[in-house]
Amino acid sequence: MKYGHFDDDAREYVISRPDTPLPWINYLGCEDYFGLISNTAGGYSFYKDARLRRLTRYRYNNAPNDMGGRYIYLRDNGNGQFWSPSWMPVRSVLDNYTCRHGMGYTVIRSEYNNIEAETVYFVPVSENLEIWELTLTNNRPTAVGLSVFSAVEFCLWDAWDDSTNFQRNFSTGQVEVVNEVIYHKTEYRERRNHFAYFACSEKLAGFDTQREAFLGDYRGWESPEVVEAGESSDSIAYGWQPIGSHHIKIQLKAGESKNIIFLLGYHENLPDAKFDPPGSQIINKKTVKPIIAKYLQQKNVETAFRALRNYWTDKLGKLQVKTPDEHTNRMVNIWNAYQCMITFNMSRSASYFESGIGRGMGFRDSNQDLLGFVHMIPERARERILDLAATQLKNGGAFHQYQPLTKRGNNDIGSGFNDDPAWLVLAVAAYLKETGDWAILDIPVQYENELGSETPLYEHLQRSLQYTLERLGPNELPLIGRADWNDCLNLNCFSDEPGQSFQTTTNKDGKVAESVFIAGLFVLVAKEMVEIAGHRNDGMEKAKMKQAVEKMEETIWKSGWDGQWFRRAYDDFGHVLGSKKNKEGRIFIEPQGICVWAGLGVADGRAKKALDSVAKYLATPHGIILQYPAFSRYYLHLGEISTYPPGYKENAGIFCHTNPWIMIAETKIGRGDRAFDYYTRINPSKREEISELHKCEPYVYSQMIAGKDAPTHGEAKNSWLSGTAAMNYVAITQAILGIQPQYDGLEINPVVPLGWQGYEVVRQFRGVRYEISVSRKGVGNNVSLVVEGKPIPGKVIALPSKDVKILKVSVSIG
Ligand code: GLC
Ligand code: GLC
Repeated sequence: MKYGHFDDDAREYVISRPDTPLPWINYLGCEDYFGLISNTAGGYSFYKDARLRRLTRYRYNNAPNDMGGRYIYLRDNGNGQFWSPSWMPVRSVLDNYTCRHGMGYTVIRSEYNNIEAETVYFVPVSENLEIWELTLTNNRPTAVGLSVFSAVEFCLWDAWDDSTNFQRNFSTGQVEVVNEVIYHKTEYRERRNHFAYFACSEKLAGFDTQREAFLGDYRGWESPEVVEAGESSDSIAYGWQPIGSHHIKIQLKAGESKNIIFLLGYHENLPDAKFDPPGSQIINKKTVKPIIAKYLQQKNVETAFRALRNYWTDKLGKLQVKTPDEHTNRMVNIWNAYQCMITFNMSRSASYFESGIGRGMGFRDSNQDLLGFVHMIPERARERILDLAATQLKNGGAFHQYQPLTKRGNNDIGSGFNDDPAWLVLAVAAYLKETGDWAILDIPVQYENELGSETPLYEHLQRSLQYTLERLGPNELPLIGRADWNDCLNLNCFSDEPGQSFQTTTNKDGKVAESVFIAGLFVLVAKEMVEIAGHRNDGMEKAKMKQAVEKMEETIWKSGWDGQWFRRAYDDFGHVLGSKKNKEGRIFIEPQGICVWAGLGVADGRAKKALDSVAKYLATPHGIILQYPAFSRYYLHLGEISTYPPGYKENAGIFCHTNPWIMIAETKIGRGDRAFDYYTRINPSKREEISELHKCEPYVYSQMIAGKDAPTHGEAKNSWLSGTAAMNYVAITQAILGIQPQYDGLEINPVVPLGWQGYEVVRQFRGVRYEISVSRKGVGNNVSLVVEGKPIPGKVIALPSKDVKILKVSVSIG
């Protein structure tokens, strides 16, 4: 069953009923100011950091699930009836409803008793504010008198403090109301030099800023007393819960429309110019007023909206494909690319499953996300790499997370996730291949954000690899530390008290437990280092890495190969995991994917064996599960992985992030049909038709789909912020469709389904537009290239001379 449809021409998903199985959300903002918005106008906004600069309040895990947001109430002043044009929170039955989630904007349109309301929500590029542009139309044959009430609940900035520190917070809230603008200035009197504002383009009939005055005691957002009565109380918040609500009264003739603009924004004043007059406690509004005035004008709003559309046309235009499969086209051209950009902005901090409080930016996550967005925003990818590298430790390790506002490593969680540093190498390699910006490697970058500790970025990469080589265990495989990619495989923790962290409550010295996954990852990234060092004429590093790769491969075959598949790890007792010797957890997906991706066993058939084992034990119609059999109980020595009931999350869930590694691996051994089949199983657009089972948004990937041991097999959770976005993007665009940026040019190396006669790709790469047309001539994967009419040897198209801006490429496969 579906709850809407894709409108690919508009690049929108159109939701046609408000009661989706879960809130289906979208993101507003692309630089510093962001918002989450659901299909019923739920959600919240923040500036840069979802924890430390949260503008509006959102209560997670609420009942109903999605309560609190950017609400508008309409009231028919003739009969006193009121409703929410976004359905929530009043939930009156609407005569029709659509929510269009687009690139950086959401439009909710509905009709109730012939009053039509359409609200466009978006954040203009480069501004720290969001616009709600409401258009009301009277479709009745007679005139109508309406009241419009807006409503947001302000968060007292630090979202953690806001939801815990009530003894203080109930006394700190402060606002100012001047004409049509409500200013939220809690803590502005002391150390903050920022405030929020909520403005309206119309003369007000009234306003409210104290929540209970608006709602009425013991009432919720579904029936505010003020809305019911049709009169605001002009309340001023003194502590308690400051809100912003405007009241506008309008008359609409039959057929008449009216446009009303609301702005919610964030503004900073210089610390010595906070107050006006100086010495007072009144916000200095001189610099914010022109911004407010600008965006309260409809023509400026329209210009800003067009600029936003163009922003996305430009980003998405870097790679567009036309294949025989509509789900592929839609995901590659629109939604998967968009989701990659959202992970660039959010990492894992704020979604409907991530509270914006718990996690900052992950080191592993952000590095690997870069693979999905580097071609869209290379300059910002560069900045991201430098920020990440600056949190690296001197020993080559990395803080597992950092706060986006401070860009400092997070001490609570610390380091010791032994795969972390390797992802930096992968990210830098992807950046170099995309841009050819070799100069980045010479940029001096600090360690642990410490002044004076700078070395060239290149040395950061060297230390990353050295970190693995210096931490080998009894089998000479890399030590796992707190965890590797699988944060829940905690072989050194032995956590036996509720409330302890599975990752950081370490009471083992960690000198025994080893990871085959890190070994495979090492081979993958050290091979990149061989090429990078070669480019820099660093013969020593090149030779050293070549040797290290050979040695690590030998070790994997010796201790990491189980006969039919790759093993997963050795635990703290030296016992193997992910082997036929194990009763539970006999085979894991991660080492099969990463080792074959790194090239292991491709030449001698062992890769094929491993992938056949994946198909046999791990593949389901809903995707490939993480391991088999699931852990049936908690194992102290395995950690969090065995805390989840079988089939969920890391305990044999379909962890979508890992599926593309298998797709990539399948292409390494030339099985395009298999690769594409796996791609299709978890493709959200393809799963749209089973929305009532899948539950999450059909336009973005979720982190997890319940595995075959779960009673709810096929049900997705944790949409949006997942490495799944970048990895699927890489798998489909680079491995399957074969468009692979390389250090010296663009490689075309498709491994596509046999049934595909051909497809087209437009790829912008290093200032050149490649117009690529692929056609099948036979049943194999052999590639021949003709560039501008001339056959060329090999698969890599060398960079053309500077004046060439377009290249036509014909590719035959067979
Ligand atoms: C989450 C984390 C990611 C980790 C994965 C597996 O998605 O963000 O870093 O690799 O879980 O545990
Ligand atoms: C939990 C999740 C895992 C995630 C980790 C991040 O353990 O199960 O997916 O990576 O938290 O801290």
